[in-house]
Parts: sequence; structure tokens; C-alpha cells
Amino acid sequence: MRKSALFIFSILLLINCTQQKVEVGVITDKAMVVSAREEASKIGVAILQKGGNAFDAMMATELALAVSFPYAGNIGGGGFMVYRKNTGEIGALDYREKAPLAATKDMYLDSIGNVIEGKSTLGSMAVGVPGTVAGVFAAHQKFGKLSVEEIIQPVIDLAKKGVIVTQKQEDRLKKHTPAFRKANKETILLDNNWKKGDTIKYNALAETLSRIQKNGRDEFYKGETAKKLALFIQDNGGIITEEDLAKYEAKWRDPITFTYDDLKIISMAPPSSGGICLAQIMKAIEPYDLHSFGHNSTKAIQVITEAERRAYADRSHFLGDPDFVKIPRNTLISKEYNTERMKSFSFEKATSSSELSHGTVDFNESTETTHYSIVDQYGNAVSVTTTINAAFGSKLYSSELGFFLNNEMDDFSSKPGVPNMFGLVGAEANKIEPEKRMLSSMTPTIVEKEGKLFMVVGTPGGSTIITSVLQTILNVHEYDMGMQAAVNQPRFHHQWLPDDIKMEPKGFSEKVKTNLQNLGYALDETNSPVIGKVDAILVLPNGKLEGGADHRGDDTAVGF
Ligand code: DON
Repeated sequence: MRKSALFIFSILLLINCTQQKVEVGVITDKAMVVSAREEASKIGVAILQKGGNAFDAMMATELALAVSFPYAGNIGGGGFMVYRKNTGEIGALDYREKAPLAATKDMYLDSIGNVIEGKSTLGSMAVGVPGTVAGVFAAHQKFGKLSVEEIIQPVIDLAKKGVIVTQKQEDRLKKHTPAFRKANKETILLDNNWKKGDTIKYNALAETLSRIQKNGRDEFYKGETAKKLALFIQDNGGIITEEDLAKYEAKWRDPITFTYDDLKIISMAPPSSGGICLAQIMKAIEPYDLHSFGHNSTKAIQVITEAERRAYADRSHFLGDPDFVKIPRNTLISKEYNTERMKSFSFEKATSSSELSHGTVDFNESTETTHYSIVDQYGNAVSVTTTINAAFGSKLYSSELGFFLNNEMDDFSSKPGVPNMFGLVGAEANKIEPEKRMLSSMTPTIVEKEGKLFMVVGTPGGSTIITSVLQTILNVHEYDMGMQAAVNQPRFHHQWLPDDIKMEPKGFSEKVKTNLQNLGYALDETNSPVIGKVDAILVLPNGKLEGGADHRGDDTAVGF
């Protein structure tokens, strides 16, 4: 009797323990990849073990995510990469999608000027010209060590062997099947009532990848794949042409850099808003003693929320593709400007977004996403966020080529003041123009401390990306957490409009919530069961690496 009671107790304890979040992540000596799927992290690490560097591992991990995580991993989308080499050299790569040549400012409006629901999110018209293949090849060409052939082979093998469906994947597929049917003329591979434990083989994608392996980057932009892709999109009513694909180029950008206490933050430049917004928020909160306010305390949430409110109001007005709009980037990220912006903040009462607009700037200064973090055994670091925008992008899937196409066009402002799928409003700076890149929130980031590599961090989550990256850095720097603990913490988010604080349910104390409401803050715990899904790496004081793989997904850290 006592024995069986003990047995039941032990089982209960075990179940309880397995459900609890691990507070310390995987720790390795030299190298690590943290990504949305174990299969992708393992392929990235295998490339490192062969002597490849972080840029080789980037190509392998990105393409392995296209196979193992079709929810967001892709070759039909785009992304951003920030790097820091072991020499301290830094840089950033923009392989964001762009608007097709035939795109127009009002392409999502009806004859009386209203936004046509779903046109920028579902099906062929939502698709931007994909940049992912150009991106991984540009990074590899500049810094790679191993051959493309060698790097892509394990990805092709994975696609042929197939990938096991997880519970989270089963749930997602079930949820999005009705949209798959709306967007596609035929039944697609992922519309097959897949269950946890099933193996999905991606043979068509394996063939596309084999052609890319053989013919290189141009296979996707000028070869057989390009022809088939343009034809497929047009057959489905879209406007992307072979010319659009042939003209696509990834672009090297200067990253946004700024300091916060003794940290140097290196993050993505426009056409992502990530780096500038993160800089604005961090510069605005730097003078406050967040550490003594306490983690997720009323005062800490107030200061961060008010800084976020102001930064997102500026985002909406000033930011867009830098090749099309002039961005006052130095002013926006300066200490002086952000201190001035915070002058209207008081601990006594919430600022109202309706009374707050963008700041005044002197223009005459000189002038469903996934993230993975990599540190190689040579000390190089790569931080990459890649996306097809919504879950499974536009849901439009080429059965012949084996991949989903993005719905990134929704990241443009379809009409001034009308919110996009993330509730973000924009205007002139982010209006649609041919060949323009749509504004992003992706924030692949690298942090240095005392001149050395300290953290590699990033996340999906649409508009909540910037604030999730922010909180992860603060959890380590202000609240002395390790990497996994920092990733585990409940998150909140404010983006100017709508004027509420989104909070992960059950993550915040009743007392703090009541305090905030009494100060005039509206709270929204309904809409955001999960804010961000951060994958990060921290360099520990002894030089080892700690992974932070987000339990909100199937994310996994692997290394050696
Ligand atoms: O670039 C952007 O900001 C968005 N397309 C990112 C989308 C995203 O994070 C979706 N994931 N939850």
C-alpha cells in the first residue's frame, strides 16, 4: 500500500517536473545553435563540427528550418542577419522581400478606398518577392568556408527522410487547414490530417533544394525554379514576374549600434524597425533604476511601457525602406532625443496614446517568423530572424516546388491609419511602391560586454519582437538571470496603438495588474497567449555558452 502510494507520488512528481520549465539551458564549451526545431539545430551544429563557421551554419540552419518548420522556416520568404566576427567586425544583411514591379500604393483598396479584407494576407496577391535564397548565398559567398554542396546535402537528406510531427505542429496544422483550402486550388501536402508522431517527407522541396545545390543562387532567381515559381504565382492570380525574381538582390546594411550601461548593442537597421526601436526604448529607460524597481514590478512595467509607446509612435511615422525614405536614424536613437520624449511621462498616470504623436526631428542630420542564434567554435556569432510573415505565410503552397509563399506585403501600410495584422498603423514612409521593402519589426541582435561577445538574441512575434528582445536583454543585464531563465519569463508589450499593455496570461501578479489599472493602463491578456519565442545564447563568465530555447515552441539548443 505504502509502496504503491509512493509510486503514484513519484509518477505525479515526474509529470509535474517534466511540465515545469527548465531554468538553466543547455551549456556547451565552444559552439551552439538554438533554433525552432531540434533537427535544424543539429544540422547547423553538424556543419560546425565539420569545420564550418557560423555563416556556413546559417545556410544549413536556415534551409533546414525551411524543411522542418514550414510554419515559418522558408525559402519563400525573407529575413535579416546581424553578425559579429571573432575580430570584432560587425555587419548586417538584409534579405527582406520586396514589392513586385507591378505593385501600387492602393493595390489592397476597393473602388471606394477601403481595405479589402484578406487581400494582403491570404493567397497570391499577398506575396512579396522572396529573399531567403539570395540571403544565405550572400552570407556564404562573403564569409563561408565549406562548399555549398556539402552544406545543403544534409538538408536534402532530411527532406527526403522526413520530419516527425510534434504536438504543437499537429495543433497548428489543424488550425490553419481551412486557410490552406481557401488559398490553394489543390490539396497540399500539409493538408493530410497529420498527427503527432507521423513523418512528413518533403520530396518536392528536396528536388528544389537539389537544383539549388547544383546551380547555386541563380537557380531560384533565374533558373527553372524561377520560371516555375513566377508561373505558379501568376496562375493563382498574383503579379510576381520572372523579372521581379531576376532583379532581387540581398543588401549589406550598417547595423544599428548603441550603448546601454556597459553593454554595446548591435541590431538590425531599416528596412527593419527593430534596431532603431530597440535603441529608442533602451535609451529612454537607461536613466531609470530598473534593477531597484524589481523585475516585472509596477514601476518597471510603467517605464518600459511608456518608452515603448513613444518609440512605436515614431516607428509608425518615420520608418520605412531606407532606399525610398529618408530616416533620421542618428537623432532617433540619440540619448538627447529620447530623454526629451520621456519628459511627458509621469509615474502618477499613464500617458494616453491619443494625446501622443511622433516626436519632432531635425531632418538635416548627415545623413510567422523564426529566429536562430549561432556561435561557432571560432568565436563568430550570427543572429538571424527569418519569416514568411503569418503562420504558413499566404498559405499559398507550390506543390511542385514544395514550399509556402510569404504574405509579407501585409507589413506595408495598405492605407494610412488602418492597422495591419499586427495592429500596427503606418503612413507615407511605409506605403507600397514597386521594389520597395516593407517595414519589419525583426530584431536579430548581438550584445557585447567589455568589448567581448556577450549575447546573441532574437525572436518571432510580429510587432512584439522588439519588446521581447528588449525584455530578454534586461532580464540578463538588470535582473541577473541566466539565458534560459531570461527566456522563460512572462512578457508584456505596448505598441502605442492600440493603447493597451498586452500581457501573457497568468504571468503577472494581481497586485501589479491592479496597480497598473489604477494608474490608467488598459491591460489585454486575451489576445496574446504567447508574446515572442526567443532563441538566444549567452556567453557565461567562464567562457562557456548557455542556450535559451523558448519552451513556448519546440525550440532546442544543440552544441559542443
Ligand atoms: O517583419 C515583420 O515584422 C513580420 N513580418 C514578422 C512576422 C512574425 O514575427 C510572425 N511571427 N509570429
